[in-house]
This record gives sequence, structure tokens and C-alpha cells, in this order.
Amino acid sequence: MTSPSGFNYDSFFSAHAPVSNRGGNRNARYDFAVAYPDPETLPLDGLVDALKTALDREGRDLAYYPVPAGLPSLRQLVADKLQRDRNMTVNVDDIVLTSGSGEGISMIIQALTDPGDVVLTEEFVYLGTLRQIRLFGGDVRGVRCDDQGIIPESLEEIIRAAEGEGKRVKYLYTIPAFQNPMGWTMSLERRRRVLDICRERGVPILEDDCYVDLRFEGEDVTSFHSMDDNGQVLYVGSFSKIVAPGMRLGYMVAPQEVRQRAMSFKGGGGVNQFAALAVEEYLRNNMYDHINEQNDALRAKRDAMLASLGENFGDAAKWVKPEGGLYVWLEMPEGTDLASLQEQSFEEGVGYYNGAMFSPEGRGANCARLCYGHPSPQTNYDGVAELARIFERHGVL
Ligand SMILES: Cc1ncc(COP(=O)(O)O)c(C=O)c1O
Repeated sequence: MTSPSGFNYDSFFSAHAPVSNRGGNRNARYDFAVAYPDPETLPLDGLVDALKTALDREGRDLAYYPVPAGLPSLRQLVADKLQRDRNMTVNVDDIVLTSGSGEGISMIIQALTDPGDVVLTEEFVYLGTLRQIRLFGGDVRGVRCDDQGIIPESLEEIIRAAEGEGKRVKYLYTIPAFQNPMGWTMSLERRRRVLDICRERGVPILEDDCYVDLRFEGEDVTSFHSMDDNGQVLYVGSFSKIVAPGMRLGYMVAPQEVRQRAMSFKGGGGVNQFAALAVEEYLRNNMYDHINEQNDALRAKRDAMLASLGENFGDAAKWVKPEGGLYVWLEMPEGTDLASLQEQSFEEGVGYYNGAMFSPEGRGANCARLCYGHPSPQTNYDGVAELARIFERHGVL
């Protein structure tokens, strides 16, 4: 059979190439499903000015391919930032720029995962990572969490269970700050316990810190990476959250032997130098002012969502109050089916993703992730009230 393009590719596809089901984005009237940032605080003018300055200075270098690890001055900025903000002492050469942190995560997953490997994540996890680990055959298992983060006893139990099956755990992927999708930040105590367990059992940690700068309340908690003196923590960060996802810039920090393997999965000759020049020049002069401005806006958005949850859901649901990031995790009573209602709710004007989508085991249909970063505070407030009306109409509230 020929395809619409005239040639039948069916027998040519690699066994590793499933059909991507990423469609175009649809937007509900109140869209809490996808985690976009605040469009109003994107630093467009600042980026244009920065780009002009950087191109005047070193634009002719665009005639060359970038060095594979990416623009050295931006890697230096990352090294300085990690030292200042995350207590991490890393060298410029330990850092590789990537096309968003998503690419770094994918490169590390490919470097570490063989089909059948047991890989641990939090019990609900960022969809991009879940898909990538599965794409490369990983057997993903979710570790139980509460509002302090990973529950150490659950981590020990799940490692023991894998060992009981004659398997070792290949790595633990964690999003300790403003977790996607659950919103909590892992406490220092929990980080210590998790690191101790992983050290004892020889399990590397992939720390995804992409939201850490979006703190608008409370105290910073130091990174896993800073507490590790054993080279056991791999780290990724992103400029998507403090500049814009459309820049497609992030970074990984890893020991040389891991970088070398991971780099073999990087296609396309380094990251976009044009974007890297603009981001480096912009952030060198404006980083913390911009982050503060952005976080003030996010706080107002979160507050509006929480106020509306309190008024419209009251005791009928639970939610974690995030101290930063983009997510509120709504938990309805056990047995509530928000998975079946998801499409209907979207049609009726409110988009959300139900918990089962984020769970390696498909659990959590009684939960929903609500992203508050993109809509205005008023829209967050009104949208949650509308969500409550939809839930009432369909008998789940
Ligand atoms: C936890 C987490 N990690 C990584 C990413 C990838 O982001 P980017 O590739 O834009 O840096 C996302 C995107 O939403 C995310 O939520």
C-alpha cells in the first residue's frame, strides 16, 4: 500500500520509532493543562537589546559551528550561577549546553538505559521524561511521595523489590524543587535520606532542577548535587523557565565519562549559538531582576488559584500549596474519575491533565494537575470556579 506521500515507508521504520502522538496544541477557554509561562513577563525588549550587543561583539563567529558543549561564556554563567544559587562547585568543562533541559534528560537516559532496566521516578512524574525512559525500554517504577517529597521507606522497599527480582535499579530521576506535577519541594531531611539510600545501594541520581529559580516564597533547599561527594548525582537545568521555552536552551552537569557517552546522543552540532548569545548577554546583566519580576507575577497567579480552590472546593479536595514553580496538584477523594471527565471538561471550557497520565503505574485518576503560570490571576480564579461547576454538573463534586 502506498502512503499519501506516494512511497510506503512501513518496512523501513526502526523498531525504536513509535508514532509520535504530539498533535497541535488545543486551548480550552481556561487552560490549566499545559505549563506555559507568563507571556507578559517574557523579556522581549531586553533580549533584542542583548542580542544586538552580542552580535556586534561576536556575531561573525556564527560563521563557525559552535563548540560541541556550547557557548563557553554561557557555560561560565551557568557555573557561576550554580555556585551562587545551588552550592555547586562545577567547572565550565563539566557543563554541556543542550536544546532545553529535555534534550539533556534524553541524552542521559539514552546513555544509561537498556531495555528492561528498572528506573525509578517520583510516583507522578514529568511526562517528557516518562515517555523518554519508556522509549528506550526502561521499566519505570514510581516511588511514593508525600508533601515533603520522596518517602525514604518507599524508596528502600522498591529497590529491595527490584533486587528480589534479580534486577538492580539503574537510576533515580527526581524533580526535587516545585515538582512536576505535584508542586511540592523536597525537604532537606528527605534529600539527605534519599541520597544516603542511593549511596548505600549504588544508585545514581538524575536531579532535574529546572524549576528551582521560580521560588516566590520560603527558603531555598540545597541541591542533591551539592550534598554529593561521590560523583553520583547528574544534574540538569533550563533557561526555559527563567527566559522562555521557545529559546530551547538548557544544560547538564555530569562527570566526564557520563558526558562523553551522553554527547554521543546529541544530534545537530551543538546548541543554537544565536539564542545562546542573546541569553548570555541578557542574563549577565538582568538575571535576578527578571527572575524577581517573574516570580512576583507567579505568586499572584498562584494565590488567585488557591483562593478559588478554597472557595469552590473547600473540604471536598486536597491540594499542596506550592512555594514556587507552575503547578497545583488537586487531589479528589479516592475513586473520583477525573480521567474520564478530562475531555468533557476541556469541551466545557476547562483544560487539565489527570493524575494517571503522570503515573508510571497509571494510578491517580482522582488527581489533576493545574498549571497557573500562563493565565492571569483573574482567569485562574474564574477558571477554578468554572472547573468546580463542571465537576458538580458531572457529579464528582
Ligand atoms: C520537570 C521538567 N523537566 C524538564 C522539562 C523540559 O523543559 P525544557 O526542555 O524546555 O528545558 C520540563 C518541561 O516542562 C519539565 O517540567
